[in-house]
Amino acid sequence: MAYPLVLLAHPLPPDWLASLQGHVRLLVGPAQPGGFAPHLLEQLAEAEGIFSLLTDPITADFVSHAPRLRVVSNMAVGYDNIDVAACTHHKIPVGNTPGVLTEATADLAFGLLLSAARGLPKAAMDARDGLWNTWSPTGWLGMDLTGATLGIVGMGKIGRAVASRARAFGMNLLYSEKESGASPALEGAQRVSLDELLAASDFISLHCPLTAATRGLINESTLKKMKKTAVLINTARGPIVETDALLRALRENWIFAAGLDVTDPEPLPPEHPLYDLPNCLILPHIGSATFGVRRRMAELACENLLAGLQGIPLPNCVNPEVYRS
Ligand code: GLV
Repeated sequence: MAYPLVLLAHPLPPDWLASLQGHVRLLVGPAQPGGFAPHLLEQLAEAEGIFSLLTDPITADFVSHAPRLRVVSNMAVGYDNIDVAACTHHKIPVGNTPGVLTEATADLAFGLLLSAARGLPKAAMDARDGLWNTWSPTGWLGMDLTGATLGIVGMGKIGRAVASRARAFGMNLLYSEKESGASPALEGAQRVSLDELLAASDFISLHCPLTAATRGLINESTLKKMKKTAVLINTARGPIVETDALLRALRENWIFAAGLDVTDPEPLPPEHPLYDLPNCLILPHIGSATFGVRRRMAELACENLLAGLQGIPLPNCVNPEVYRS
């Protein structure tokens, strides 16, 4: 019996994919910007499963060229790279990997928050570059965390994990959510409108998914509603923040600093002017990048993939309506 063909755009350590052995015929990479290499796309008509990364666009056109496709398994919690409506239309379940990356991503958001608040990269570079002539009472000043207010936009799993870290640092908490009652109320945190959050927060951390409603949520108008001393953290998705507006905000000191693990575009080209700003810290989308978490994400993606190929409900399915007849 021929094993079902599965396409994977980027090589992964074989032990992360061990559960696929003896169940699928895996066609892999090589990795290239923009997703699947041409020789993989040539096989699309035969593919029964797609093991996708967040960098692989799974568009309506892609799906329409895959008549045998039975599952798309995304190795990420976010799935804005996938046209879920098109998959649903073709009754293709889409899997993601929630839960396992919550704490690591919250750790990174908090690391960025601390680093941006205290200007750590610039201070470290200045020390290395010989600018540390004496202990300077007025040099390298940053923002206090204790007693400051953190505004969390999107109070899902990662937002909550960030909130628990903020509590340990003695911060006050506000949060906003698009839909009322989207998730249970959080003790010790006050739910407010986005405008109230922007005006009252010393730190603003984004934890909402990228959707039509959140694309460009942080723009010239919303940046101007923030305090001049505000620090903006984005570990969610780049396009939630309008890059040109943020560039102006940081250059013209509408806000104090930003810490970004995600950007628009992504990767942000090395010549981009945001890199030149001392008050902007940029990381290469590493929120979930720990040895343990990335392995667990791959394993969950394998579980979703195998379930889809067996025709049973995916353990983590973003479009469960495909199972309704
Ligand atoms: C990472 O950004 C993810 O969505 O898993």
